[in-house]
Amino acid sequence: SVPVITIDGPSASGKGTVAAIVAQRLGFHYLDSGSLYRLLALHARKHDVAWDAEQPLAALAATLPAAFAQGRVWLDGNDVSEDIRAEEIGIGASRVAALPAVRSALLQRQRDFAVLPGLVTDGRDMGSVVFPQAATKIFLTASADERAARRHKQLIGKGESANLPRILQDIIDRDTRDAARAVAPLRQEPDAFLLDTTELTIDQAVETVLRRFGQ
Ligand code: CDP
Repeated sequence: SVPVITIDGPSASGKGTVAAIVAQRLGFHYLDSGSLYRLLALHARKHDVAWDAEQPLAALAATLPAAFAQGRVWLDGNDVSEDIRAEEIGIGASRVAALPAVRSALLQRQRDFAVLPGLVTDGRDMGSVVFPQAATKIFLTASADERAARRHKQLIGKGESANLPRILQDIIDRDTRDAARAVAPLRQEPDAFLLDTTELTIDQAVETVLRRFGQ
């Protein structure tokens, strides 16, 4: 069977960064599942489908013309790697992700990424719903203050304006929404290893995941 490592956790915890490095170290494939919800939000906006129109969104999700190639994210043949990172599209992603029909329409597409030699994937429900049989499950988190500080630094690094108290409030709001939603709420699975990175460097977090996996 195909080895799968799942890394779930809240917004801005650094799980994407850690997951991508772990995948590279192992020579495994990498799936950023959040990007699928972001792609769907962007695709819906281009097709004038509202972010709460469950059945039309599920139909778009079933045939989402998305591709991951050359380290870029493509939609309908266009490089949308930057477009899907817009704050507004993140909000759309969290809205469409709350709809059960959307989540089930994207389920098989996510499972199809589990091919040899293996997969590292990050998101909210990778260990609970998409890959319940994963070899290694990590719940990666950090304090809300630390996550806000990291996102703030990231935005400043990109030359964007950033307001720390607002970012912190956004993170707290997103945590509440992710944990409270009816489908696939964010929580630590009983068989997931809790990795609190508040006081850890990226390297230390990567090494911890690799050790859990047995490398
Ligand atoms: O970490 P951040 O919220 O900035 O973004 P993301 O990981 O790209 O995910 C975007 C949105 O998709 C999140 O707000 C989640 O609510 C949702 N999501 C989800 O429901 N399930 C996943 N497996 C991944 C993301």
